[in-house]
Amino acid sequence: MSWWLRHADTAVAPSVLSADFGAVGDDLASMELAGADLFHLDVMDAHFVPNLTFGPFIAKALRRRTDLPLDAHLMVTRPDDLISPFADAGMDALTVHIESEGDTAGTLSQIRAAGMKAGLSLRPATPIASLAPYLALIDLILVMSVEPGYGGQAFIPESLARIAELDRRRGVGEGSFAISVDGGINADTGPRCLEAGADILVTGSYLFGAPDRAAAVASLRARQHPVDP
Ligand code: DX5
Ligand code: ZN
Repeated sequence: MSWWLRHADTAVAPSVLSADFGAVGDDLASMELAGADLFHLDVMDAHFVPNLTFGPFIAKALRRRTDLPLDAHLMVTRPDDLISPFADAGMDALTVHIESEGDTAGTLSQIRAAGMKAGLSLRPATPIASLAPYLALIDLILVMSVEPGYGGQAFIPESLARIAELDRRRGVGEGSFAISVDGGINADTGPRCLEAGADILVTGSYLFGAPDRAAAVASLRARQHPVDP
């Protein structure tokens, strides 16, 4: 079984950006019960993106409240400085942006050397082709389907073709990475991303705002348009 899976063949990763940080431990427990597979931690530095969230100190506190895998999505200008602190905080995966500063290949190998899965993300306007040199070096690609920085934005439909292109590339042997998608995922867009080839659905406002979280998790996994055999 792949490291990101707990149920079925599709992983649901709640983005804790939308959690209630006054009672975040309860929110994590409720998402676990609802069927989440892993948690997605949005780290923003008020430089790479305008927003500012949290760092390894809070990530370590979240680590103590769940046994599910944790993937930290670093929306920061200088990820290299944060690899060791996030490894110490107990992260299972660290996802950095191709648009960040530094030597991306070096950053990815440092993440793996620190014992974590290496993820690479890209903004909606960054060409998929720019990932080519790194496809063999990564465990996960995080396709941003909104401009990074805030939860609650609308899904960018062109993301579906980007997911399909990555699925095609790994199908012809250009790496063996999981495809994750982040931004505007709900019961409509989530299943469409799965059909395009995504393995992990990151979702914040839809899941945390749902009156029935278990039903919301299940709705993400429902493939609405089965592909003909
Ligand atoms: C945006 C973050 C996302 C965000 C998703 O910069 O990377 O993880 O929390 O939130 P929703 O699901 O509300 O679009
Ligand atoms: Zn994210």
